[in-house]
Amino acid sequence: MSGVNAVEQEAPTEPVRIFGVAHGGAGVGRRINEADGATVGEHPETRTWLVDGALPGEIVQVRRTQTEKRLIRGVTATVAMASEQRVSPPCPLSETCGGCNWQHVAPAAQLELKRQIVQGQLRRFDVEVEAAAPSPSALGYRRRARLHYEQTEDGQWRLGFRRARSHEIVDVPRCAVLDAPLQHAAERVRGLLPLLPARGEILGLSDGERAALGLPGVRLTDALTAALAGVLDDVLVGFSVRGGRQRQAIGRAKLEIDGPQRDGEPVPILVSPFVFTQAQGAVNRALVRYVTAQAEPAGARVLELYAGAGNFTRALAGTAKRVWAIDESREAIACLQGLVERFGLPVTARNGKSEGFLGKLARADRARGHDYDVVVLDPPRRGLGRQPARWLASTRPARVVYVSCDPATLARDLEVFVKSGYTLERVRVFDLMPMTSEVEIVATLRRRKKEAGA
Ligand SMILES: C[S@@+](CC[C@H](N)C(=O)[O-])C[C@H]1O[C@@H](n2cnc3c(N)ncnc32)[C@H](O)[C@@H]1O
Repeated sequence: MSGVNAVEQEAPTEPVRIFGVAHGGAGVGRRINEADGATVGEHPETRTWLVDGALPGEIVQVRRTQTEKRLIRGVTATVAMASEQRVSPPCPLSETCGGCNWQHVAPAAQLELKRQIVQGQLRRFDVEVEAAAPSPSALGYRRRARLHYEQTEDGQWRLGFRRARSHEIVDVPRCAVLDAPLQHAAERVRGLLPLLPARGEILGLSDGERAALGLPGVRLTDALTAALAGVLDDVLVGFSVRGGRQRQAIGRAKLEIDGPQRDGEPVPILVSPFVFTQAQGAVNRALVRYVTAQAEPAGARVLELYAGAGNFTRALAGTAKRVWAIDESREAIACLQGLVERFGLPVTARNGKSEGFLGKLARADRARGHDYDVVVLDPPRRGLGRQPARWLASTRPARVVYVSCDPATLARDLEVFVKSGYTLERVRVFDLMPMTSEVEIVATLRRRKKEAGA
């Protein structure tokens, strides 16, 4: 059954009618009495169900996995009444591999479901969430991936992704969402797994034509160096190997990504597989364009938090007076610094934690006045946090453009801005990772007039 997880096969099933979609991609529903046909009876169970592998409009038979005070979680066992949005998963491993949780959802429907997830999390705000254009391709798009490998008890090697809700690794000889160079690189490195530690991770990065792999926790020996060099070719062009204090490159371990395809597009970024990059190129271009337009950087003093290797920085710096960019990763900041020097960008790149920087800024700002016209931030899942958001709001930038991959922490932080004198003007969702319920959100906040003049 498409999108159905194979766990808990033995538990009895219960019929659930699904009416919505939750953060994380599960269907939201209620228990009913019978599952066949459209007439369903009420059921005394009033708790909300969160059902993996179920879509709005469906009636599904569900195996419980967890019973909580207000919620029951489960996985779809069979589908009694299917949504028109349900499709046969293009990946034969969709029932076991936890890499993609939405292989059973029609690609055309995924973006609207993501929009609904974000709208649901932001229901307390007066804003209509918009959807950007969908990803040009729902398969073969991923240019960045974290693969897991391990040796099994019977001496076999598995290379792939984790099973949903499990640490078990599912062997994935062919992945439907990796782009061609990453797929090629995964196939080339597979034969070398017996030379690596018994378990570990492989970080993949592709520029669309070539791939480089990162091997964390691996100490190079002469034999391994020769073996890694031996699998390099025109597509798999390098390894970055790190173990203890050792950091070594074999071949070309950094790739230039997102170079300009047309006049006026920003300069490319140069990254290793160990540095964060957005999961695909095409939608990232649209995301960078949109974030830059929302920030209105022309002639402005821009503060960019969680800047990474400069994905947004390079575009903001095109017209800004100056961009002050901060990231806690030394390596990402070194990449950004390289970009600044190579292209002469008006950017000051600093290594550090955003929270510490904002705390100091808020204290200094009271004495000195307000430094930044615009703030762009793109934190990891945990978001900015309430106190750092208060510090940031207290420095009164005219605009804040908040890029988020978690609508729940975004909602928490937006509440602080709205209570501190900002209007939530626009929220837009981008589909960087089709076939999964992952969302990328851009929220634009503008300081209200009265407060702007204050
Ligand atoms: C979602 S990535 C965004 C990177 C970049 N904006 C991009 O589009 O590629 C989040 C970034 O936040 C950085 N980071 C995580 N925690 C941080 C913190 N407390 N302070 C500053 N940067 C942090 C990570 O190193 C990472 O580069």
